[in-house]
Amino acid sequence: MIDIHNHMLPAVDDGAKNDDMALSMLKEAVRQGVEHLVLTPHLYEADIIKGTGEWKAKIEKGKQTVMELVKAHELPLEVTVVAEVRYQDMLPIILDELDILIGGKYLLLEFSFHSVPNNLERIIYEITRKGITPIIAHPERIKPWQRDPKRLEELINMGCPTQLDIGSFMGTLGPSSEKLANFLFDKDAVHLVGSDSHNLQSRPLYSKPGYDWLSERYGVEYADLLLKENPGKILRGEHVEVYPVHLEPHALSWKEKILKIFKS
Ligand SMILES: [Fe+2]
Repeated sequence: MIDIHNHMLPAVDDGAKNDDMALSMLKEAVRQGVEHLVLTPHLYEADIIKGTGEWKAKIEKGKQTVMELVKAHELPLEVTVVAEVRYQDMLPIILDELDILIGGKYLLLEFSFHSVPNNLERIIYEITRKGITPIIAHPERIKPWQRDPKRLEELINMGCPTQLDIGSFMGTLGPSSEKLANFLFDKDAVHLVGSDSHNLQSRPLYSKPGYDWLSERYGVEYADLLLKENPGKILRGEHVEVYPVHLEPHALSWKEKILKIFKS
């Protein structure tokens, strides 16, 4: 398996705090059958407000540490280091100055959990014009899309793959995330899943349980597609099939409407 989204790079963000914690997480990845880790530390505007130099140095140091750990402990792991970029005004500078594309083409892009820009289609268009394909990180956790999934439709139809967090569909990230995750599976609007692991306690890896969950519910081929084939294509900079979707919310029956009135 490939884990396309996690926070195991030590001492960079709110993921692995130090080398020991990173090592435990790397070992857990191996134990669960992950062969390639794409390390995606958060990149917020505050990280580069005074320039990108400090960020580059921190990432390079973390990367060296992880490579040394993998070698010293003979872990059968390939490691790629990029970033999970929070959408921000400084995105053009990030794209110019930092080496954060997966496979030289894909950008793991996350949005604020509480608001998404109104001109999102225009923003995505401007990114794709540079030959970059944004991967929409954990859309199922974004409140405006939980309220109105239709707003996500256009982004997918512009060719952006979606990456769900395994914890969302396994129910560990709250009922709203679980509900939208299941809705997106039903609409065939999911292209990748990742652990988004931050630690071994509250945000563990779940790659193997996630693979098993997908296999049981949708079949082994689909689990392979989301955890092996599509992430593999992304790492190689190859095209990932993103079919047009219709994200019409489920129309309520009269019974459900009445229940909703009583609940509110
Ligand atoms: Fe993340």
